[in-house]
Amino acid sequence: MIAKSLKYQAMSGSIKYYGMGEQLKMTPLDILIVGGGMYVTGRGAPDYQGTILPAVLEARRAGLVGRIAITTTRLESAEIARSKAVELADKMGVGKDIEVFPKSGNNIEIYNAETLPVKAAKIFEPDAVIVSIPDHLHAQVCIPLIQSGKHCLVVKPMAAKMEDAKAMADAARKAGVVAEVEFHKRLDQSNLLFREAVCNGDLGHLLYATIEYSQRKSVPRDTLRSWAENSNIFQYLGVHYVDLLSWATGFKPHRVTTWGQKSYLRSNGVDTWDAMQTVIEWRQPNDTSFISTHISNWIDPDNNSALSDQKINVVGTLGRFQADQKNRGVQTVRDKNGVRDLNPYFTTEWIDDLTGNSTFQGYGVDSVIQFIRDITAFRNGIVSLSDLDRVRPSFQNCLISTAVIDASNASLRASNAPIEVKL
Ligand SMILES: NC(=O)c1ccc[n+]([C@@H]2O[C@H](COP(=O)([O-])OP(=O)(O)OC[C@H]3O[C@@H](n4cnc5c(N)ncnc54)[C@H](O)[C@@H]3O)[C@@H](O)[C@H]2O)c1
Repeated sequence: MIAKSLKYQAMSGSIKYYGMGEQLKMTPLDILIVGGGMYVTGRGAPDYQGTILPAVLEARRAGLVGRIAITTTRLESAEIARSKAVELADKMGVGKDIEVFPKSGNNIEIYNAETLPVKAAKIFEPDAVIVSIPDHLHAQVCIPLIQSGKHCLVVKPMAAKMEDAKAMADAARKAGVVAEVEFHKRLDQSNLLFREAVCNGDLGHLLYATIEYSQRKSVPRDTLRSWAENSNIFQYLGVHYVDLLSWATGFKPHRVTTWGQKSYLRSNGVDTWDAMQTVIEWRQPNDTSFISTHISNWIDPDNNSALSDQKINVVGTLGRFQADQKNRGVQTVRDKNGVRDLNPYFTTEWIDDLTGNSTFQGYGVDSVIQFIRDITAFRNGIVSLSDLDRVRPSFQNCLISTAVIDASNASLRASNAPIEVKL
């Protein structure tokens, strides 16, 4: 596996391989998590404990992380985050000391979206921040934290507007920090097989891709109701496969056209698109085009057998790669909740037989831990920021995904006109 990944890295320059322990001087990092919602703690989602917090606690178990804090926006949500975190750490058998912000205060300023995480960072003095808050707030919250010298991991989408994404990348470059987007699909083994097929030339000259990606209607209607109108299904979900195609192929997006339909969500008081269809024209190095069609919705029935339904199909002159990434071959049927299709490879809880403690594994966890290890390697002088720009979902590297979102939103505003992507 190492040999293969080195081969791909060699295609765009060389990077030194680093292992877990022996080559790195391990000083545990202090981490501030900004946000305490579904993706951090599983809040509002049954049978899900989040990804960010389990991953950071796994990193603490591995000696990579020392102090941990979480900041939300209100005293009440901070307390909920604390009790979820303590409960989780307890069953994982990991240190339970977790600070939360805000600690007090009723004045309007402390609840201000921009200043609260900065205040928390001033008090807590973390080495790095992990930002997992509504899509439209990413830039305004990340930039001041980066400017104060914090390494930064932000969940996808990096930003919805290119000017915001560029400002984030500029801030990271000036501050000289590790800044990455948590595009965990790059670590899904299924997608690694796709990338391998592309890099080996097994699919020949690539012609087109179709991607279907959808989630249950309860996600925008209930769980993310407070901010779903500030996002849309392509930028919230569809963007994953934009990043994946860009990373696996190295192609540059040229033009984007998007259509959308508003019906169910609007009639349920959430003014955003039920479904979107986005066509991207990519330019290959030989200047021919590659067309990807991204069909996304967030109005699937709530009794769908998985939260996410996702399929990818890529066709080239020598072959086809297709994966049904909802149907991983694991299904349960129970009186309690009917048929469930499980993805055991994302973020999954297992019991360690030896200790009886819960452990969390999967590409969701790996992607957070990879960021933490990148900081340690960077601090040890083993990788440079330009190495990371080449091989990781760095801010610089992820500008492409935001450029496509920006063009897609412009296409919707322009009555589905094709819009040129500005990189
Ligand atoms: N839910 C998922 O499975 C998932 C997966 C990958 C990425 N994401 C991304 O993660 C982000 C958060 O999604 P979520 O599902 O956790 O949403 P959520 O609505 O459940 O949680 C949002 C959290 O952000 C907090 N918040 C809002 N503004 C804040 C601020 N200025 N400072 C600190 N906290 C603030 C809220 O209090 C809340 O705790 C979004 O960008 C989403 O696209 C979500």
